[in-house]
Amino acid sequence: MRITISKLMEMKQQGEKFSMLTAYDYSTARIVDEAGVPLILVGDSLGMVMLGYDSTIPVTIDEMLHHTRAVSRGAKNALVVGDMPFMTYHTSVEDALRNAGRFLQEGGCQTVKLEGGEVVAEKVSRIVAAGIPVMGHLGYTPQSTHQLGGPKAIGKSVEAAAQLIRDAKALEEAGVFSIVLELVPAPLAKLVTEKVNVPTIGIGAGKDCDGQVQVIHDLLGLIADFVPKHAKQYAKIHETMRSAIAKYIAEVKEGAFPTAENSPKMDAGILKQLK
Ligand code: KIV
Repeated sequence: MRITISKLMEMKQQGEKFSMLTAYDYSTARIVDEAGVPLILVGDSLGMVMLGYDSTIPVTIDEMLHHTRAVSRGAKNALVVGDMPFMTYHTSVEDALRNAGRFLQEGGCQTVKLEGGEVVAEKVSRIVAAGIPVMGHLGYTPQSTHQLGGPKAIGKSVEAAAQLIRDAKALEEAGVFSIVLELVPAPLAKLVTEKVNVPTIGIGAGKDCDGQVQVIHDLLGLIADFVPKHAKQYAKIHETMRSAIAKYIAEVKEGAFPTAENSPKMDAGILKQLK
């Protein structure tokens, strides 16, 4: 049974913390789903970790839909969130609505996420009115990286903190079902979490958010040379992959792989007739 938005609301009310993880392909989505993660985000972070771009800016809606379809096929229980990429909801309410609809119709996900607060509130309310659940995203918003001057904490001054609270309230009023808080000082994230009735989901925002989100490549240690401060490596999969690949190369060289077990059998009599 797929997790519902009302279940997430219930979890907030009961103080039951939950997790969200990114996934970008079918097989990873299956593992994350089977592990019991209730929310899978097909993040536009795929631009960096899957496609090798240096930011989320170049990611297109077609790239997002391609990965969202794959994840949707793998996730049977989790609610799948499709991340609306740069410039797909900025130009007009109509564009935002049409592109959000594409995520559900063509991507097969159940919900969408977009970045921003008061400035996107009207678009959020129109998307929600069309029956599409929306997740908000405040704090450090990677699609505005050039304006913000790179990844940095947001909300450290009275003005910035007050704006973040106003943004969270505007998103709540517009009808979001949850809000990601990225790189927000922990005490401010706690305050926002207390002030809104929808779940907050933190990344680099302390332990008092209702949920936490991580990029799966950071969590599993898939990329050797980059561990963001807000992440924790629960495994070093790059090491496991490298040593498995080295073993494969060596066994092919030595003739230890493949063995007779790795290919189809053939009746010896047939072979005799061919000689
Ligand atoms: O794209 C993404 O992975 C995200 C998370 C970091 C929240 O937006």
